[in-house]
Amino acid sequence: MIWLLVIFIVLLIGLILYWQLILAEGAYLGAPLVALLYDWTAERYNGIKEFSDFEEDFTLGRPLANRLYVQPDATVLDVATGTGRLAMTLFRQPSYRGKIIGLDRASKMLAVARRDLEPQYRDRIIFIQADAMALPFADNSLPVVSSLEALEFYPDPKHGIAEMVRVLKPISAENPDGGWLLTTNRIGWEAKLMPGKTWSRSQLEAILEQLPLRYVDIQIWETIYDLVWAQKINAGEEG
Ligand SMILES: C[S@@+](CC[C@H](N)C(=O)[O-])C[C@H]1O[C@@H](n2cnc3c(N)ncnc32)[C@H](O)[C@@H]1O
Repeated sequence: MIWLLVIFIVLLIGLILYWQLILAEGAYLGAPLVALLYDWTAERYNGIKEFSDFEEDFTLGRPLANRLYVQPDATVLDVATGTGRLAMTLFRQPSYRGKIIGLDRASKMLAVARRDLEPQYRDRIIFIQADAMALPFADNSLPVVSSLEALEFYPDPKHGIAEMVRVLKPISAENPDGGWLLTTNRIGWEAKLMPGKTWSRSQLEAILEQLPLRYVDIQIWETIYDLVWAQKINAGEEG
């Protein structure tokens, strides 16, 4: 009988570790552990994700470049940039001529991004090691702020979106085309194993409604994410 109990406890601990470290990637155990796990995975990350240039360009690079057609020099802040997947696809778009700031907490993810980016793009990107919970940028300072497949790993994903909106430039008389927010919310069965880190579509809409945003567009993307596009308005103005 005692053996059954021991086996049960070992299995339970194994399941909890699998949930916390593999499925949730350390998200409930603090940002330093998440970054450490990504540092360990950095060299294998692109192989695991199997990014295809065609799909990346079709679903990400081109839609973003099209939105930036009227401001092709716009600087993009890519929060939790990882190995630079957004930069790679956006730089491939001929209409985009701007610069990208790739920010991540995991230094080895940034090192892979820096190493693998094609040489002709290297003077158009800078990498910053920092935390998404406290972006080192002024309010209303950047025309594009993105964060892909990352909110669910932040200590406080809701604060993560608010931080992105804080630094995003609002639409104004001088900037009538506005800036763009681009982010993701995990969906599907794995999202259900990350309560408090992911939201249903209606919860996501309610969170976005509380922020000074307009033209909020939520689309299913890569089957396991909702992709959110939005523009910022000055607080108090109509959405
Ligand atoms: C799944 S990867 C996504 C990377 C990239 N955006 C992409 O779509 O391939 C998640 C990234 O979020 C970063 N990250 C997680 N928590 C972070 C935080 N609190 N601050 C900054 N980066 C964070 C990780 O280091 C990792 O590079």
